[in-house]
Amino acid sequence: MAKLELAIIPQHVAIIMDGNGRWANKRGLPRTVGHSKGVEAVRETVRAAGEAGVKYLTLFAFSSENWRRPESEVNDLLGLLRRFIRRDLAELHRENVRIKIIGERENLRGDILPLLLEAEETTKFNTALTLVIAFNYGARNEIARAMAKLATQVEQGALKASDIDVEMISRNLDTAEIPDPELIIRTSGEERLSNFLLWQAAYSELVFIPDYWPDFDRRLFNHALEIFASRDRRFGGLSTKTAAVVG
Ligand code: IPE
Ligand code: IPE
Ligand code: MG
Repeated sequence: MAKLELAIIPQHVAIIMDGNGRWANKRGLPRTVGHSKGVEAVRETVRAAGEAGVKYLTLFAFSSENWRRPESEVNDLLGLLRRFIRRDLAELHRENVRIKIIGERENLRGDILPLLLEAEETTKFNTALTLVIAFNYGARNEIARAMAKLATQVEQGALKASDIDVEMISRNLDTAEIPDPELIIRTSGEERLSNFLLWQAAYSELVFIPDYWPDFDRRLFNHALEIFASRDRRFGGLSTKTAAVVG
């Protein structure tokens, strides 16, 4: 791989993997073929992120709203995730990848949650890339659950409402311990967050790639990193890239 010299590598990259269906449609194939091709893009992206020196890679695998899709498509998506964990867990573990799951865990039926939790448990002491899988994830639901946890503590007298601050809310989200993503990539040309990491995205750089997810690869990943490196992140302050004229 061509080294991204002097580029600022984000610690945490989060990706909305979108466009599997349209990728398949364009080829006259069933949507499910797009989803399977998407898994290959996942494998390549995990490797590319590790090689680039990214420490956290979050992948939006299934949203809390994706249950609205036809049952057969939901089953396809769950089946692919199940197979991905079964087939790739050993190799990810060998490569020292730590898996972390975010999303609502209540009311999930079947073997998918135990499988995801097993992947988390098996890899919990790994120290290379942390692969965060957002499954049954919706940011508003995540924030509501965090609020409910804090409200319970207030009710029990363990916490004063006036002590609730930004850090405390962050620590009660599913992403507690995970730094906010500096970069969020969405493929397929759609330019929206679709209820992904709303709290954590406060100062994320957003990069929208027109290509569909099954075509995403190392080259496009590095391209997104280059776009990120060229951005001027100001956080409400003044630019650090151009010499500020003060006075
Ligand atoms: C992304 O591709 C996969 C998931 C949302 C799980 P889509 O299935 O959303 O593909 P499009 O957006 O319909 O093309
Ligand atoms: C977002 O994509 C969810 C995932 C990538 C898992 P969607 O395809 O579900 O988003 P919308 O419906 O176009 O906003
Ligand atoms: Mg989509």
